[in-house]
Amino acid sequence: PSASPSDVMDDTGLEGAEPGSGWAEPGGEAARVAVSSPVGTDTVPFHGPRQAGVDTPAQTHALFLALDLEPGTDRERIGRLLRLLSDDAARLTQGRATLADTEPELAAAPARLTVTFGFGPELVRRVKPTAVPEWLGPLPAFPEIDRLEARFSGGDLLLQICGDDRVSVAHARRMLLKVARPFAGLRWSQEGFRSARGAHPTGTTMRNLFGQVDGTANPAAETPHLDRVVWGVGAEQVGISPWITDGTSLVLRRIDMLMDTWDELDRPAKEKTIGRTLGTGAPLTGEAEGDAPDFAALGPAGFPVIPEDSHLARARMDVPEYGMLRRGYNYDDGPTGAGLLFAAYQADVERQFVPVQRRLAESDRLNIWTRPVGSAVFAIPPGCAEGGFVGDVLFA
Ligand code: HEM
Repeated sequence: PSASPSDVMDDTGLEGAEPGSGWAEPGGEAARVAVSSPVGTDTVPFHGPRQAGVDTPAQTHALFLALDLEPGTDRERIGRLLRLLSDDAARLTQGRATLADTEPELAAAPARLTVTFGFGPELVRRVKPTAVPEWLGPLPAFPEIDRLEARFSGGDLLLQICGDDRVSVAHARRMLLKVARPFAGLRWSQEGFRSARGAHPTGTTMRNLFGQVDGTANPAAETPHLDRVVWGVGAEQVGISPWITDGTSLVLRRIDMLMDTWDELDRPAKEKTIGRTLGTGAPLTGEAEGDAPDFAALGPAGFPVIPEDSHLARARMDVPEYGMLRRGYNYDDGPTGAGLLFAAYQADVERQFVPVQRRLAESDRLNIWTRPVGSAVFAIPPGCAEGGFVGDVLFA
């Protein structure tokens, strides 16, 4: 029977999109599935000195899974778990089925799937107690703003699964949790999204659900600045202590955004809250998104054009070398609310993240419409070579 229009995949709208074919091999048997190129067939390398999914251009979907180790999962069993997970992640991200895959067809279109591993303090402690960084643990409390819930916080092992196709993300989640089950149980699962791949020109800064252009001040890709801020390259000179070569950290904050009261503001009030325009994301003192904000500029009434308590003025780094890479994802869970999975990567949580969060907790106009409900910190170990596994450096 011929396929009805609803069975046919949507055109991706990307220039040059061509149907190709992918195949996934469970135990050597090929499952042929038509896959569209480049969206479906695109892959991000799994092996390498640094893990993918940190400075990889953000994919459309993200699933953050936090697991807790079983009491009996000791150093040796953690090593086995990480090897199994790494082997499966290496296959899935390259469009290949895992060894135990019962539905290999679902692995055929990886669509830039990445799996990034993060370690909570308990995992590092069980493997190598001397390697636990000082900053690895819950953030200091921010009582002015925090309304944290255990169901969105903490965890021993993070699996951050990102991809442009929600189906391959779901499949990866299922395969990885299956292999982890004897060693660790799921603590929480949080899901986020951005605009679909191809919806906006490549390189467009994302928008959050308030409509704001979000991510403008991030360190630019493939620059020494990003290397220092995220991976700690040469950072010792400015007092940043990288956890481990080619590793970094993730602070994940689940922040509810209070849409109903936000919408009581008019557009100028919304723009003053951030210090940037909604249209282009330009600072209120500039024309284009990339223009440098002028905090000294005064309006006709003698007040700063960019309010001193705006998010932009308060979040600004005092030391430009510090910084963080924000790679957030929106969530929109209907009755339980909408918001931002605020994900920030930096070499040193204490030096780079905490001072900014402390300043924002003390004063930030945006706080009226945002509410942190989850918080977790993970050490992101280096990547691994073929034949190795993520975290193997800790076992050396
Ligand atoms: C900048 C939104 C939470 C740190 C911005 C900008 C927006 C924004 C629209 C301006 C454009 C840009 O550079 O990205 C939000 C929203 C939040 C939130 C909606 C909560 C739901 C946070 C948190 C932190 C943070 C929790 C860190 C603790 C920053 C930094 C900048 C920034 C460092 C760049 C400031 C600069 O220009 O140097 N944020 N943000 N934000 N935000 Fe946030």
